[in-house]
Amino acid sequence: MNAPRARVVGTGSFLPEKRLTNDDLAGMMDTSDEWISSRTGILERHIAAEDQVTSDLAAQAGLKALEAAGCDPEELDLIVCATSTPDLVFPATATIVQRKIGAQNAKAPAFDIQAVCTGFVYGLGIADQFIRSGMSKKVLVIGAETFSRIVDWEDRNTCVVFGDGAGAVVLEAVPGENASGILSTHMHADGSHVELLHVTGGVSRGRPEGFDVRHDALGFVDMQGNEVFKHAVKAMGAVAEEALAANGLKVADVDWFIPHQANRRILQATAKRISLPEEKVIMTLDHHGNTSAASVPLALDEAVRDGRIQPGHLVLLDAFGGGFTWAAALIRW
Ligand code: UT7
Repeated sequence: MNAPRARVVGTGSFLPEKRLTNDDLAGMMDTSDEWISSRTGILERHIAAEDQVTSDLAAQAGLKALEAAGCDPEELDLIVCATSTPDLVFPATATIVQRKIGAQNAKAPAFDIQAVCTGFVYGLGIADQFIRSGMSKKVLVIGAETFSRIVDWEDRNTCVVFGDGAGAVVLEAVPGENASGILSTHMHADGSHVELLHVTGGVSRGRPEGFDVRHDALGFVDMQGNEVFKHAVKAMGAVAEEALAANGLKVADVDWFIPHQANRRILQATAKRISLPEEKVIMTLDHHGNTSAASVPLALDEAVRDGRIQPGHLVLLDAFGGGFTWAAALIRW
């Protein structure tokens, strides 16, 4: 008998109410709607309210996914939350989410994973292993971020790109013979390039020298955008091809490609690199920007809810982020 397979039975997402347009940013710093939209494809991003934390966004997205799945929070036997902007140093945001969605009575494990923008796809890969091994039967995987708290609002190279949000899926164990479900996941990391995309401070390192202690953050996002761009296109292309080859499938078999929503030009270049027509790329970054670990499940949820993704479709998720980390998941819907 085949090992169980993980099937996505519900998706959900959440964006905070406050919207920050390119014109709003142009009123705050030396930038323009023309520059941001032509260089990134982003038109606006959502920003968490002062009293809204990552677990609030995560819980909202999680509840929507549970509702779509017709699943009671008490049925969950694992919660995985991917985030680089946790509410607190500890405990894990996943445990706070567990309480907020009313899933704590099941006493199921809950933990965070940190792979920056690749976090959700890493989380999906980890959850898939828990289901394949028989350890878990119903899993909530969330990607949630409040990057607005760690960007330097005076650095136009980074702050115009990022936004806040959350997305989630509920996975359910189905018999391995089932045609639909996660076919495979593929995860990678290369720590040689930490400096190209990182936060300048942290708990152990402390704040960077000269950092204004009035800031709540321990440091700010620092990104060599141009360099990251090149690595992202190469790695996302390679892992997409790896996922297809592992399943004896071709690019032409893919119905929908859902890459990390970093920059329209990165998405277009990756699609071109693997010879995938652009109309198969789900692109939602125009209205939420780069939401790091939340971006893939946000885009996935939108494409499920507007009916683009249909049963039987082959869906390829692909992400790249700080570390560097990168990963893909191939799903038969
Ligand atoms: O999520 C994880 C992975 N992250 C990514 O994948 C992000 C990858 N990188 C990017 O998306 C792009 O590199 C950015 C959108 C961040 C930047 O776009 P770019 O086309 O690579 O611009 P650049 O950094 O090469 O800068 C070009 C010019 C510079 O001016 P000079 O030196 O040519 O005079 C910048 O100072 O654009 C200037 N610039 C801006 N101008 C207006 C940079 N940011 C802005 C801005 N408004 N917001």
